[in-house]
Amino acid sequence: MNRRQIINDPQTGNKAEAFEAADDCPANPIRHRTIGDVITARHGRRAVLQGMLGTSASAALFGATALTQPHRAAAAVSSAQSRYAFDELAWGNDETHHVAPGYDADILLRWGDPITADAPDFDVMNQSAAAQLQQFGYNNDYVGFLPLNAEGTRGLLCVNHEYTNEEVMFPGLGRQDKAEFAGMTRELAEIEMAAHGGSVVEIARNPEGKWAVVRDSELNRRISPLNTVMAIDGPAAGHPRMQTGADPTGREVIGTLNNCAGGMTPWGTWLMAEENFHGYFWTDQLDAEGEPDLTGQPEAAQMARYNVPAMWYAWGKYHDRFNIDKTPNEVNRFGWVVEVDPLDPHSTPVKHTALGRFAHEGAETTLSADGRLVVYMGDDARFEYLYKYVSRGSVSQDRATNSRLLSDGTLYAARFDPDGTLHWLPLVQGHGPLTADNGFASQADVLIDARLAADVLGATPMDRPEDVSPRGDGTAFVMLTNNSKREPGQTNAANPRPESDFGHIIELKEDGGDHAATRGSWSILVQCGNPAIAAVGAQWNLETTENGWFGSPDNCAIDAEGRLWVATDQGRKWDKTGKSDGLYGVETEGGLRGHSKLFFRCPVGAELCGPYFTPDIETLFLAVQHPGTDGTKNLKGFERESTFDDPATRWPDFDPAMPPRPSVVVITKQGGGKIAT
Ligand code: FEO
Ligand code: CA
Repeated sequence: MNRRQIINDPQTGNKAEAFEAADDCPANPIRHRTIGDVITARHGRRAVLQGMLGTSASAALFGATALTQPHRAAAAVSSAQSRYAFDELAWGNDETHHVAPGYDADILLRWGDPITADAPDFDVMNQSAAAQLQQFGYNNDYVGFLPLNAEGTRGLLCVNHEYTNEEVMFPGLGRQDKAEFAGMTRELAEIEMAAHGGSVVEIARNPEGKWAVVRDSELNRRISPLNTVMAIDGPAAGHPRMQTGADPTGREVIGTLNNCAGGMTPWGTWLMAEENFHGYFWTDQLDAEGEPDLTGQPEAAQMARYNVPAMWYAWGKYHDRFNIDKTPNEVNRFGWVVEVDPLDPHSTPVKHTALGRFAHEGAETTLSADGRLVVYMGDDARFEYLYKYVSRGSVSQDRATNSRLLSDGTLYAARFDPDGTLHWLPLVQGHGPLTADNGFASQADVLIDARLAADVLGATPMDRPEDVSPRGDGTAFVMLTNNSKREPGQTNAANPRPESDFGHIIELKEDGGDHAATRGSWSILVQCGNPAIAAVGAQWNLETTENGWFGSPDNCAIDAEGRLWVATDQGRKWDKTGKSDGLYGVETEGGLRGHSKLFFRCPVGAELCGPYFTPDIETLFLAVQHPGTDGTKNLKGFERESTFDDPATRWPDFDPAMPPRPSVVVITKQGGGKIAT
């Protein structure tokens, strides 16, 4: 996500600067810790081809096609043979999407599409919260797929709706200024709320191989921050810091928001990661510069560490629970991972506090060698940390008890040492410095203030940790999207570039090939950016073409053959590459390690989310988010900000009466067959 909320910087009046400043949280205060620039010797290394597991623990538990883990298996490759059998797409940036030759990229679900039998048709000029709660939400991000039959021809799509872009969503409103919110009303704010959250949508594949929505499925469901009641469990549930006037139990909360990436569990539930929750909280207490004044707030230090309140949305003007002056503890009830059972449309989603509170980018799952659940999670802000969670118990065939694995386990933060060693530091109250004297009186404090706990443990400040894709052989790939605020004295071994505009990808190898290990090793797979510009410091395989290199890795997936796919989100940095965001196949083994090929690219102003492959690799789901809104000011022939009436693109409808619509795209091979094989 790149923040959709442009604000006038009160000091500079510079919109672009202000937009970038709003890109994520302010600097973690311990970022100045410098390990030194010792990475140089590691950059040129290519990993030795290592043997990988041919079968996965999840496949052994649930059968190869039964459930949701398409990214377990991996195949060894010869040293210089591409594992991505497709003709590379040419890079560019225009009003529509493009896919490699020989593939179809069809629109499956658009913002506003009715997803229940009695939902009204989308009427962009007459929107309402009630209608939106029965229609596909805005800004699709994570996409998961849960097969409903052995053939994989029916399934449930589980889609996060991260945020809203009101300037292209509502006629006449324009881009919002956080000090004014001119034209915003309770009605519009509640439409925004209804457009956030998630959707469960049944889809089916016809004999011709095309997917379509099963609109009358009883499993179809919308989840929103407006009215979906959720349970809170784990060590922080019920703690006084989780209690509010509306919920004195501290165990029940309305809604989820800013659901970015996520994950599917081995037992077929959907994990929605709450990312930039700070942007939704409001205060009426402003200082002389018009910035939030936390004076008098009992948890001012904790709020400041989480950049609360950022006031990107006006919801707190209309709903007291988003106003920290009136409901200060509500902020402690967001920033978690939410589990949803898509097979039960009446189930109550659960916020699992054992997985910690931070700006969760995603929550990708895998299994340890002895069958415990492991969840990898990035905290997407500059100088924040990489985390993983390891359950105490093991995954079993009992679906109901499996969910308890997300309530009882250990959360770790990562320390990347200059010698290539990876250490996982446990966030356990009483362990090391996590004591009452240091402000951690209970495990609830450790988890609610996970960033502060990781600070004192000495975790490594990263360049915005985004999605993480674990593979069944104890390997994981970490997307570090960019960090334009890291200065020369603040680099460390795992984040070696100051002012990194293009990001990098780190490969983790857990000791013994076991995802539960507390030690491992790490190496940089690629340093992103244009390899033709020496000052960029990019590192790709030498065979990567002008089409193949990219900037700002964000979401990712590993398909059933163990191949890594990377989606990008450059935000306003796209004008430094000239390329639209897209999907790339990135080699991880052999002589082509670090080689990248472009498979799909977005329409102008969109970032690419998802991606998710069906277990048979015959279908790929992609989420095209915020078309027309990011970086359009520099597109040739379109040097202005998009608005509802004058957007940079009207993708995917190209109807003069319709603004751009975030949509899920489904990719299949013409004539059938596995993708990129
Ligand atoms: Fe919502 Fe880190 O992107
Ligand atoms: Ca993202």
